[in-house]
Amino acid sequence: DALGELHAASQAQPNIALIKYWGKRDAALNLPVVGSISITLESLWTRTEVRFVPGQKQDRVSLNGRSDEAESKRVTACLDLLRQRAAVDYGADVASRNNFPTAAGLASSASGFAALVHAGTQALGLDLSEAEQSVLARRCSGSAARSIFGGYVEWAHGQRVDGTDSVARPLLAADAWPLRVAVAITSTAAKQVGSSEGMRRTAQTSPFQSAWIDTQEADLATARRAILARDFEALALISEHSCLKMHALAMAAQPGLLYWNGATIECMHRVRALRQQGLPVFFTVDAGPQLKAVCEPSAIERVKAALKDVPGVLDVLDTGLGAGARSISAST
Ligand code: PMV
Repeated sequence: DALGELHAASQAQPNIALIKYWGKRDAALNLPVVGSISITLESLWTRTEVRFVPGQKQDRVSLNGRSDEAESKRVTACLDLLRQRAAVDYGADVASRNNFPTAAGLASSASGFAALVHAGTQALGLDLSEAEQSVLARRCSGSAARSIFGGYVEWAHGQRVDGTDSVARPLLAADAWPLRVAVAITSTAAKQVGSSEGMRRTAQTSPFQSAWIDTQEADLATARRAILARDFEALALISEHSCLKMHALAMAAQPGLLYWNGATIECMHRVRALRQQGLPVFFTVDAGPQLKAVCEPSAIERVKAALKDVPGVLDVLDTGLGAGARSISAST
């Protein structure tokens, strides 16, 4: 910046997969066994400031005003990738905050690592394309690859062993088809089995793993077509299918992975009842108990009211679709 400091601030938002990622072909590089398609959200965000300090040995990391040892290690591993690129060995001060609950199935790692890679790239003056930032974000947290971009995004499985082609790309801008998302919070407890451990257990023990991999390309093609044609009904059907298929796959692991609670299932029934009544809405659920209902803008108030009415729903957040990772002024 103006003082010549190695400093930058960036914002990124979580994304929600409609065609799910589950399973790694390389755990160290976060290479997926399947491609995936997501939407980037608008009003939930992570804002991250990064300052590399000459002479500083260690990174100092604050997340929502607190330090967390496990998260700090992941941040340092991610910054190491950027430091390698820039041939810099300074420690960094990192301050990051979310405006939504962390570790509750809302993909805080996706927005968090997309914002970190974006800010770190700027702070070090690295000349990296968005695709290159997506590759780096992927190595820090798989689904973070998608939050570099806004709107409708596809993350490719990729063919190379080094992962340089397992990268996200935008399919359609947010304002080209401005759907809305209601998030029904059914628990604020941290999840019991994280996604990496869940994926490992699934790949090792679920008898459905090969069927999951074999059927993904067709789902991706269907979703891609639905998005480019703005065909809500087609996107609704393929998205609910992918969600339920991912959970069936994980439930069939040993021990079975069960990410839902009773309210999650009640919300699914409520969303399907609304759709039967003609409301353009569908659900998706990730590795946690929150239900995300995706709808046309005209339906959002009725969807929110219906989900708030489900016993066990603690709160309902609501957001549009937003942009990818970008710079912000540090004082924001
Ligand atoms: O990249 P991770 O570790 O946040 O795993 C994401 C897994 C799901 O959210 C369940 C699916 C997805 O594609 O986001």
